[in-house]
Amino acid sequence: MYLLGIESTCDESGIALIEARGEKVKILAHELRSQIKIHQPYGGVVPLLAAREHKKNLPFLLTLIEKNFDLRKIDYLAFSVGPGLLPALVEGKEFTINLAKKFNKKIIPVDHLYAHFASVFIKNKLHVWQKIKKINFPVLVLIVSGGHTNLYFVEDLTKFKKLGQTIDDAAGETLDKGARALNLGYPGGPIIEEKAKRAKNVYPLPKPLLEKGLNFSFSGLKTAFNELIKEIKEAKGTIDEEEIYNLSASLQKTVFEILIYKLNKAREFYKPKEIIITGGVSANMTLRKMAKKFFRNIKVIFPERILSTDNGLNIAVGGYFLLKEKSLALEPEKIEVYPRKI
Ligand code: KG4
Ligand code: ZN
Repeated sequence: MYLLGIESTCDESGIALIEARGEKVKILAHELRSQIKIHQPYGGVVPLLAAREHKKNLPFLLTLIEKNFDLRKIDYLAFSVGPGLLPALVEGKEFTINLAKKFNKKIIPVDHLYAHFASVFIKNKLHVWQKIKKINFPVLVLIVSGGHTNLYFVEDLTKFKKLGQTIDDAAGETLDKGARALNLGYPGGPIIEEKAKRAKNVYPLPKPLLEKGLNFSFSGLKTAFNELIKEIKEAKGTIDEEEIYNLSASLQKTVFEILIYKLNKAREFYKPKEIIITGGVSANMTLRKMAKKFFRNIKVIFPERILSTDNGLNIAVGGYFLLKEKSLALEPEKIEVYPRKI
């Protein structure tokens, strides 16, 4: 069967087309338009601008796919219904519903976080049949992105138990805000990663809520980081490049140590067979190395780096799982988007 995956939750417009048969998938198209340049001057994503860009980008991406594929052959549309930015989701919804009505197709509503989970099961390889990756359940799944830091115990493709989440800022948001405090631009995660590579020293920073359960908290760390910047500025009169490297490394290291510490707590209690770390922040090589080094005797699985951040392919694959496991496919009129998790 053919599935189209449509992504518009935040600042990435994406559409992918997959062919799926049993335990195999073939990626026929994977189109993505990043909006980073549009939002960069504002230091973060502007929801209405994101919606305007999706409105322009999604039809354009579809024309690219249409060049090589007769859209009438599509069996289902998978669409990311949230959590995300409401104006962006609404734009994607309009687009998806119109398409579904035009071709008389059903829509598979795919949760944005579920799509991040689905991303680890496939390789980003076009035009070849690939086997869906086998995971040894139960697994712990940590989803770390710009909007979420969620930890789950997962028993099969659709059986999720949430163990913890952030009570304030998300991990990616902490890196984004840290980068903004250092005037490094947006999105902060990859910039911080680059700067941190050249650090000579790291400063100690607090790890709020560390010993208290499996929820996360980063806002105290953010405040302490801003204070540290102020102190250095007062002492030195400026934040020079070397301090930027050191500060970036300090923030990044602290955030990742918190993530790994909590993951380990959950691991001791729930005894999973494998660990999955996914979502935008999982693109970070330092996090990957730290996690692999720490969890020596348990497999830690990441998506391919390019699939860590939002894209239509993750939605298409997530949609296929939901259809296969739960027969989830709705008439277009039934599709609702949600900016927050419900
Ligand atoms: O999943 P995603 O594309 O969108 C959301 O669902 O939020 O994740 C975006 C987040 C941003 O906070 C961004 O700074 C972070 O992922 N990110 C990274 C890296 N690449 C993206 N954080 C750390 N290192 C990276 N290389
Ligand atoms: Zn995401």
